[in-house]
This record gives sequence, structure tokens and C-alpha cells, in this order.
Amino acid sequence: MDTTRLIAQRARAIDSSGIRRILELGHSLADPINLSIGQPDFPVPEPIRRAGAEAIEAGANGYTLSQGDAGLITKINDWLRTDLGWTCTETGPTRAFVTSGTSGALTLAFMALLDPGSECIIPDPYFVSYPHLATMCGATAVRCDTYPDFRLTAERVEPLITDKTRFVLLNAPSNPCGVALSKQESQDLLDLCRSRGVLLISDEIYDEFCYPEALTDHARHDASIPRPPSPARFDDADDATLLIRGFGKTYGVTGWRLGYAAGPSDLIAQMIKLQQYTFVCAPAPLQHGVTACFDVDMSGPVDEYRRRRDLVVERLSTVTNLSTPGGAFYAFFEVPENMGLTGTQFVEKAIERSVLVIPGGVFSERDTHVRLSFATPMRNLERGLDALVDLMR
Ligand SMILES: Cc1ncc(COP(=O)(O)O)c(C=O)c1O
Repeated sequence: MDTTRLIAQRARAIDSSGIRRILELGHSLADPINLSIGQPDFPVPEPIRRAGAEAIEAGANGYTLSQGDAGLITKINDWLRTDLGWTCTETGPTRAFVTSGTSGALTLAFMALLDPGSECIIPDPYFVSYPHLATMCGATAVRCDTYPDFRLTAERVEPLITDKTRFVLLNAPSNPCGVALSKQESQDLLDLCRSRGVLLISDEIYDEFCYPEALTDHARHDASIPRPPSPARFDDADDATLLIRGFGKTYGVTGWRLGYAAGPSDLIAQMIKLQQYTFVCAPAPLQHGVTACFDVDMSGPVDEYRRRRDLVVERLSTVTNLSTPGGAFYAFFEVPENMGLTGTQFVEKAIERSVLVIPGGVFSERDTHVRLSFATPMRNLERGLDALVDLMR
């Protein structure tokens, strides 16, 4: 049967050829210096691995409730109280639940909030899934141009809000830029959303990867735990914010597919209902694994990433423009104007020197920049930076 004519518009509307071409070029390299990877390179801490393995051995292999394992939800609720001052309960006005990765939470949020013809506002540059998730719902992701400093400020967002807007999506620290907002910028964005009656979704998947100058005095908790600013930390933010976080990046368990969402209970109830008929529940034994995450100290790996970040900024800022990443493990640098190349053409030249990076056009309407990931051992990073700096000189 020719199934091509049967394919739905929501699938046809998505084109992934740009990134595929780069990955294919990368595959042809014998010994690539891979600075394209979006996941951490440190080993999963032993208590987390052990908790996951023990849960499998103990027989926790069946479904959990759609909202997740009760023990994990208790840990999440405790942490949200400490970190944000939120009181999440099953019956109160604010609630948290477990999702199949951050992507699972995003998918359910888009499905719960977007009707065909409605709009959401996303930053440009954006995490690759955002526009496609809106397309899959028949909605429009309105891009908010954040060049050259990559800050999703209230000033930039305000003119884009219409009566069709359902939410504004903030991702800080961000993929692909690593930029974190200040406390004031977070407050202004939350105030804008509240005053215009639209939800603020805060994708905080990189919240644990935050470097000293981006950390905040805006703490609800033991100030010895460094935290990035979050719009969710302001008084009464919980009725206007949907918080989305993940375990994958922070603890090196991207393949476990686990995250959580928290926010207004009526919205969370709709998301859990949609989860029941799609994902059913998040991976059950691994929910026990990530329950151990809350007692693991990741300051060692984060410190190592800060050292790599410093090296990236020091080397690249001698040859091009880049905003210092306050968090995550990416740098988004400009292709120097005098090279006369698009991001994609630059990446092709980098690949000739065995360096794999991603063209900015994959994350943006513009193709003027390049994303580098420093989630790679220092030696590899140094080799890659040498080659990139040489290319830009
Ligand atoms: C900003 C952002 N949000 C969400 C995700 C999806 O993460 P997960 O693997 O938890 O689904 C990613 C992954 O790269 C990301 O960078």
C-alpha cells in the first residue's frame, strides 16, 4: 500500500532535513570532535543507578498511577516547597505530577492549552521541539526575536500578545544560548503574563546547571544551595505559572525519560487526563531511581562545567561575539561577519576540520550563529576550540 497519501498534515508540516544533513555529515567522519551533544558526559551517580536497579529487581515493573509514584511525588512536593515556597497537594490549588521527560510535560501542556488557531509565544532562538509541538496542535508558535543578547524580556514579548495567545514559554537557562534571566526580568515577564491573562510556562530543565554570576539572592530556601532566578519563585506565582523540570540532564539519565510539571491544579488535572490516554505513566522502576536524585550533590559536575564554560568564553570571545552562558552547557556564537558564511556553511567548514557543531538555523529563523555544547571532556573541548578559533581567524 502507498501510505504516503495517508499521512496527516501534522506530520507533513514538520521538516527535520536540516539537522539530519548535519548528523549524516558527522557520521562520515572517522574521529569527530563532537561538540554537538545535548546530554551530560558524566556518569550517573551510583545511588541513582542502584535505586533504579533495585526497583526492577524488587518487581516495581508494572504501571504506576498516571500522576506518578506517590513516594516520588512527595519528594518533588518537598523540593518545590523548599525551592519555590510552593505548596503542592493532590487536592489544593497547586499540584505536581511526574511526566515522561521534560518533553512529555511540554507535549501535555501544549495539548492541554492550544486549540487549532490559537497562539503561544516562544523565544527565538528556541529549543527545537517548541514550534513543532504547536504545529502538532494546529496552533502557531509566535517567535519572539531575542537577538543579540537572547533575553526573553517583557518588553520584547508584550507586542506579540494577542487575544489568541494562551501562553508564553520561557526557557532559562536556555538551549541553545545558555542565557539565564535576572530576577527583575523574571518578575517583569511574570507580571506581564498575569496582567494580560496568559499563562507563563517556565521550562527549567537546566536549572541545576547555573554558574555563579547567574545565581540569585532570590531564595526561598537554604541559601547555600545555589539556584538560578525563576519566575516561579515570586509570591503567588503558582496560579500563573506552569513549571516544567527534568531529571535527564541534571543526573545524566536522559534515556530514563523522567521529569515533572507543577502549576494550577485545574490545568494539571487536564494534563494528567491526557497522560492517561497517551503516555499512560512515566517509566515505573525509574521513578524509584530518580527518587534518590534529591539526596545527591551535583556541585562537582556543575563546577567542572563552569570551568569548561569559562574556557569556551575565553577562547571564542577573542574571535567572535557571544553572550556568556549563565547556565546549561551550550554557547551560541556568531559567525564572524567578515567570513560571509551562514551558520550552516560555517558548520560544513567546521566538519571539514572534524568538528561537529550545530547551525543556528536549526534553532532559529536566522542562520547567523552556531551552537557549541561543552558537555564533552576538557581535552576534546580544547581540540575543538583550537580548530574553531583557527577557522574564525
Ligand atoms: C530546553 C529543553 N527543554 C526540553 C528538553 C527535553 O528534555 P527531555 O529529555 O527531558 O525530554 C530539552 C532537551 O534537550 C531542552 O533542551
